[in-house]
Amino acid sequence: MSILVTGGAGYIASHTLVNLLEKGESAVVIDNYDNSSPEALRRVKQLTGKEIKAYEGDACDEELLVRIMHENAVESVIHFAGHKAVGESVQKPLKYYRNNLDSTISLLSAMKRCGVTQLIFSSSATVYYPEDEVPFREDMRLGCINPYGWTKFMNEQIIRDAAKADPDLSCVLLRYFNPVGAHPSGMIGEDPSGIPNNLMPYICQTAVGLRDHLTIFGNDYNTHDGTGVRDYLHVCDLAEGHACAVRYARSHKGVEAINLGTGVGYSVLDMVNAFQKVNNIPVKYVIGPRRPGDLDASYADPSKAERLLGWKATRTLEDMCRDGWNWQSKNPKGYR
Ligand code: UD1
Repeated sequence: MSILVTGGAGYIASHTLVNLLEKGESAVVIDNYDNSSPEALRRVKQLTGKEIKAYEGDACDEELLVRIMHENAVESVIHFAGHKAVGESVQKPLKYYRNNLDSTISLLSAMKRCGVTQLIFSSSATVYYPEDEVPFREDMRLGCINPYGWTKFMNEQIIRDAAKADPDLSCVLLRYFNPVGAHPSGMIGEDPSGIPNNLMPYICQTAVGLRDHLTIFGNDYNTHDGTGVRDYLHVCDLAEGHACAVRYARSHKGVEAINLGTGVGYSVLDMVNAFQKVNNIPVKYVIGPRRPGDLDASYADPSKAERLLGWKATRTLEDMCRDGWNWQSKNPKGYR
């Protein structure tokens, strides 16, 4: 039996593959390499010494999904594939709705045809109603501020409705907070195309000299130092969370939304200072205006993950900064 990983060459997916293969699971990948590189999969093979069968194709292609499920005795699916740039989703909402919703619908339909009943979905903390008090708990109200977020919200609803109609389905909706860092080997990591939108890749690219300076988006937030606070979590902890969710889905029916975060918030300045200290390298920054749509603070109540999955983040802020920089300095241009 194997686990189908859609978008398997991506940042979180490649770390999840390493974790699963090291646990003796077998995995098969579908990826169209739209925003990722097959090199990531070669590195996963190198790291683990295990083969991964990869199909180049679109996760919206239901017939291809059916073929993959049949050819590989697929038992469960981890669905990562999707467009993920918040800014682009505002410019091109239809592209986001078409691709991110169609892939989930095609996948659920292919699963039904093949008798595959376990699904782990890559959701996001961005589904939480932005004005609510932190920490975010899974039973709090939802609401988004950009099309990317709405696709996560709508996909959660599509999966809930599919599970209501089919009591055999076991689905886990993993709501990630802010994944950062890289595998400690420095062989795989985050490889954003173009100018990074997210904080950690921007810090790393500034440190390595690809960007002149970081702009901190606002220092007048209601936080301990005025800069935005987020729940950063090491991508290897996040990968472990997926392995726990796969195990959980094997023995539980129905749908559960589960936060994956540390429960601890760090500010932008905390991150910059920790990065400089751990890696002993300067990061030039200036304070700029707020970025539209940003919150003061976002962090998880991670207790449900511990209760249901037995999962808890163990890696520290220092680990995140050291491993992120190790990847960036060994691969200044990512996988290229
Ligand atoms: C962003 C997305 C979120 C998505 C997540 C994926 C927005 C509004 N939210 O979350 O929907 O799920 O990425 O990882 O885009 N910052 C700077 N300078 C920078 C970049 C970021 O000061 O150059 C600050 C931000 O203002 C924020 C913090 O760093 O306070 C984290 O930003 P980022 O890494 O973009 O993550 P989120 O905004 O939390």
